[in-house]
Amino acid sequence: MTIPVPARLDVVPYPAASDIPGGFLSFETGAQFHFHERFAFESGALASYLTEAGIQVSEGGVPIRGIHAVVDSDGLGNEGYALEIGEEEVTLTAASAAGMFYGVQTLRQMLIASQSRSNGLPFCRIVDRPKFAWRGFLFDVSRHFYTVDEVKRLIDILALHKMNVLHWHLVDDGGWRIEIEKYPMLTKRGAWRLKKDFVWDYLDIDFPEPGATEEVYGGFYTHDDIREVVAYAEARHITVMPEIEMPGHSLAALWSYPELGCTPAAVEVFRTEVGMREPNVFCAGKERSFEFLSDVLEEVISLFPSKYIHVGGDEVFKVLFENCADCRQRMIDEGLQTVDELQSYFIRRMEKFVNSKGRILVGWDEILQGGLAPNAVVMSWRGVQGGLDAARAGHDVIMTPYSHCYFDFGYDQSPTKHVAEFDPVSDGMSPAEAAHVLGGQANLWTEYVPDFSAVQRMMLPRLAAMAEVLWTGMPDPLEFESRLEPYKQMLDSLGFEWMADETMTVPEHHTSD
Ligand code: ACM
Ligand code: ZN
Repeated sequence: MTIPVPARLDVVPYPAASDIPGGFLSFETGAQFHFHERFAFESGALASYLTEAGIQVSEGGVPIRGIHAVVDSDGLGNEGYALEIGEEEVTLTAASAAGMFYGVQTLRQMLIASQSRSNGLPFCRIVDRPKFAWRGFLFDVSRHFYTVDEVKRLIDILALHKMNVLHWHLVDDGGWRIEIEKYPMLTKRGAWRLKKDFVWDYLDIDFPEPGATEEVYGGFYTHDDIREVVAYAEARHITVMPEIEMPGHSLAALWSYPELGCTPAAVEVFRTEVGMREPNVFCAGKERSFEFLSDVLEEVISLFPSKYIHVGGDEVFKVLFENCADCRQRMIDEGLQTVDELQSYFIRRMEKFVNSKGRILVGWDEILQGGLAPNAVVMSWRGVQGGLDAARAGHDVIMTPYSHCYFDFGYDQSPTKHVAEFDPVSDGMSPAEAAHVLGGQANLWTEYVPDFSAVQRMMLPRLAAMAEVLWTGMPDPLEFESRLEPYKQMLDSLGFEWMADETMTVPEHHTSD
């Protein structure tokens, strides 16, 4: 009798090292748990995944062990795990709860695949750990708002793919989404806009109360909401990094507190489409801008344990600095020659504040212009050059070039197989520079992503490619593609939506609201 040998494991991202000798372990008798006490959350998660796969938890079942590796002989590090499926039992070994969680995710995917084949789990020995420490996903909740339950569902998707950073884009021109107790107008006004053809109609002086009319769109998270999301993510070993945009992309804040802008609060200039370059910025000349932003960041930092705090810095409409008497005076006082240097002054001041709270500032690659703040991490989006320059200058970087990492782009422009070609370490980086690449990130901007169904279809299946790039290093894109069919079946069985037609330019039901 020949023992059937599965050609590969139905797991995405694929494990770093695996051996598949052939044969299968049956769970007909159910499963029983023996987990180290520090893996209580992980064993609870696995229990729900077994139920999901129709497997009973029973005393006579196959033992599943969750072992704490005190001596890390396999070199698992702080995110790795070993998984052994043998004739008698299943053994997961990890030095950390994160590693155990990732091992449980691998097992979950194998359980779902075995359900469709109804032949048990393939015997195997897996030793797995990620290539990159930063496996990020940006979610823009400003342009469209998503509920706490939807954000949690998104976190479930990230966890399934072993992603570990949720970059939460909480504020932008389209709306301010986080309660700040010191500045209540941010959510009383800034969280709401009129729907009319995606245009903010600020000429409506008697802006209706939220809920008073269906023409008002928006929403925000209370401090309790934020704590709930952060805790939910943390249990799944995902860090939530907040982003508070400055000095640009700040219309929602400046509508709430017009005195903080370079231009006076002329309502006419606010008549702009969401996503367009903004006609106002936080003024770099007025002290009250810095006071306001420090107060806001103080509250934000108290809610988010993340070591990294993102302050935006992209696409600043600097001509407004040029045209502002306060900004010009600041440049004279500080001996600044250009508006790029003025923006740099702005970010450096904010960095001092962020550092004083024990956190590290992250900004988009435009923060290189006019001189990089001394301890800043650069998120390279306009291409890879910003990341290269920053790494060369000894700064840590996160690579998210729009060429491969923008999941708001249509699938016709950025299909899954194209994302699979992404490498956070660019050609020409020296080993010392490459060591500054923390990892990579996919970004989902939501100007044209109106609901959570569209969110899922813009993410999936592309996120599979990003996860495999960041976790495994995408050793074989063709082999990866050959695993997409069972992967999509897994998404179906978990009830996640995915884009079947990779020629789509935008989600089928894109509406302009
Ligand atoms: C960006 O896409 N403006 C970071
Ligand atoms: Zn100004």
